[in-house]
Amino acid sequence: MGKKILVIGNGGREHCIAWALSRSEQIEAVYVAPGNGGTASLAKCSNVSLSPLDFQGLMDFAKEKNIDLTVVGPEAPLAAGIVDRFQAENLLIFGPNQAGARLEASKSWAKEMMEKAGIPTASAMIFTDVAKAKNYVLANPGPLVIKADGLAQGKGVTVALDTESALTALNELSQFGAAGETVVIEEMLLGEEASVLAFTDGKTILAMPPAQDHKRIGVGDTGPNTGGMGAYAPAPVITPQLMDRIYKEVLEPILAALTHQGVTYRGVLYAGLMISPAGEPKVIEFNCRFGDPETQVLLPLLKTPLEEVLIATAEGTLDQIQLEWKSECAACVVLAAGGYPGSYRQEDEIFGLEKVAETGATVFHSGTRQIEHQIVTQGGRIMAVSATATTLKDALKCCYEAISKIQFEGVYYRPDIGWRAGG
Ligand code: AMP
Ligand code: GLY
Repeated sequence: MGKKILVIGNGGREHCIAWALSRSEQIEAVYVAPGNGGTASLAKCSNVSLSPLDFQGLMDFAKEKNIDLTVVGPEAPLAAGIVDRFQAENLLIFGPNQAGARLEASKSWAKEMMEKAGIPTASAMIFTDVAKAKNYVLANPGPLVIKADGLAQGKGVTVALDTESALTALNELSQFGAAGETVVIEEMLLGEEASVLAFTDGKTILAMPPAQDHKRIGVGDTGPNTGGMGAYAPAPVITPQLMDRIYKEVLEPILAALTHQGVTYRGVLYAGLMISPAGEPKVIEFNCRFGDPETQVLLPLLKTPLEEVLIATAEGTLDQIQLEWKSECAACVVLAAGGYPGSYRQEDEIFGLEKVAETGATVFHSGTRQIEHQIVTQGGRIMAVSATATTLKDALKCCYEAISKIQFEGVYYRPDIGWRAGG
């Protein structure tokens, strides 16, 4: 009998996780709660209409179907303690517990942990009193970065180049409710961003190839921040020597600091980094989960069966796994709805998806919904088109060729994914 896996979430990341799992012969079925239009039509895969925050419903489902492993995609259920609930009922689950997820769910706590562990990061001040925060901003012309402490769906960070925009950002924190009651104000770092994601079971750390996301909406990394407009891996800005330093100066110390606090961290540890022009890495943030869209370029490069890695991570036997990666490059380009990241169109039919296979690219859906035989848009980021090839240039060429086959009203994508790596 093959294994049955439950994946929680509905984005491109979860489609890609389900895709990677469903390719393994050892997998009998993949359920995605709630999934999207892409997971609905994936082989061996079915959507389950349960919310990622309906822990009781998800546990009942896992028991009823004899699920071997549950994999949590997004941060919200991790921060709300889904792993602790599953573990209390002896259900195997991939992701950090609530205490570990604080690394992403509280930027002030993460900052304190980094400072204690001597991890290079932007210097920061933490305030719970807005008046004091404003005084600090008035006394420090910046540029400053203003961050809501808690989860804010990627909208809680403002890079404020002048005092006025820093004050505006502070005034707007109340929209985040409890997540905005504490604010982290930090120095602005300069350089090139990159993401290092690692599997860890609390003892062993196995990093994935370094990746680079494109967070801004506009060409040349300009304009407002988004959830991510495209990615590629490996990112050459992180050389093998730099990766060694990131293990020693970032990943190992944060894990040791967590262990010291009594936290066994199991899951993906994601370090968002700024690499200074002199090649020095500093941590911008930690995330407690796979990145989106980084996953859509990392998992297509993984040769080791994904379920073996996820199960070993969750069981604490990662020392017995050797990760094998293709020596290729992967790229993905996100197609968004016109207007994103502002207000955008919805429910437009998507055409041409059936022609993508002939290009060799793979489509990972995020904001789509299946209505009978139609796939329609439902969200800001609609899908990521992903491809691997010997060179980054060829992987990107394949992505853009596939994109030329896909149509929906108002489609927007960045034409310059990979530009920093000469793509
Ligand atoms: P975060 O939600 O912490 O990933 O922040 C979102 C984005 O804001 C990051 O990807 C960076 O582009 C930017 N950012 C956050 N902190 C800093 C910083 N200290 N210096 C420069 N940019 C930053
Ligand atoms: N790609 C950025 C994130 O997943 O947070």
